[in-house]
Amino acid sequence: MKEVKIESVLQVYEHFDELPEEAMFLMKKAMAAREKAYAPYSNFSVGAAVLLDNDEVITGNNQENASYPSGLCAERTAIYYAGAQFPNAKIIRMALTAGSRTKQTVSPIPPCGACRQAIAEYEVKQDAPIEIYFMGETGKVVKSHSLANLLPLVFDKSFL
Ligand code: THU
Repeated sequence: MKEVKIESVLQVYEHFDELPEEAMFLMKKAMAAREKAYAPYSNFSVGAAVLLDNDEVITGNNQENASYPSGLCAERTAIYYAGAQFPNAKIIRMALTAGSRTKQTVSPIPPCGACRQAIAEYEVKQDAPIEIYFMGETGKVVKSHSLANLLPLVFDKSFL
C-alpha cells in the first residue's frame, strides 16, 4: 500500500478590483448574466461568462424549472451554448459569480460537481487548460489555472 496525495493550488484575490484586466472584463459579463438568471425557486442566481479563442464571449445563467431537476446551472447553460455555436473554438477562461436574493454571498462560490464534470469534457477535448475564476456577489475571487485542478480523479474518455 502506498499513499497518494493530491493537491490543488488556487490563487485568491482579496477583491474583484484586484483582478487582472482580462479576468475583470469577463467577471463583469458574468455579473450581468447573473442579473438575468431565472431562479424563482431557489432565489439563487448564478452567472457564467466564457471566453473563446476566437474572442467570442458567451454568457449564461441558471434556468430553473417547476420540475426541479429539469433546470440547468449557469455554467452548463453557457458552456453547452459555446460548444453548440463554436464547436472548434477553444475555451480560454470562465468567470462565475453567484448571489442569493435572501442573503449576501461574500465567499467565493465554486462550480458544482456536475458542472465541473461538464467543463472537464471540454478541457480534455481541447487538450488545453481552462482558467476558472469564481466569486460570490462580492468579496474574494478564486482563480484555478484549470478545471482539472478543481476535479482530481476526473472521469474522462480515456476510461471508455
Ligand atoms: N447553480 C448553478 O447555476 N451553478 C452551480 O454551480 C451551482 C448551482 C444553480 C442551480 C440552481 O438553479 C441554483 O443554483 C441553486 O442550486
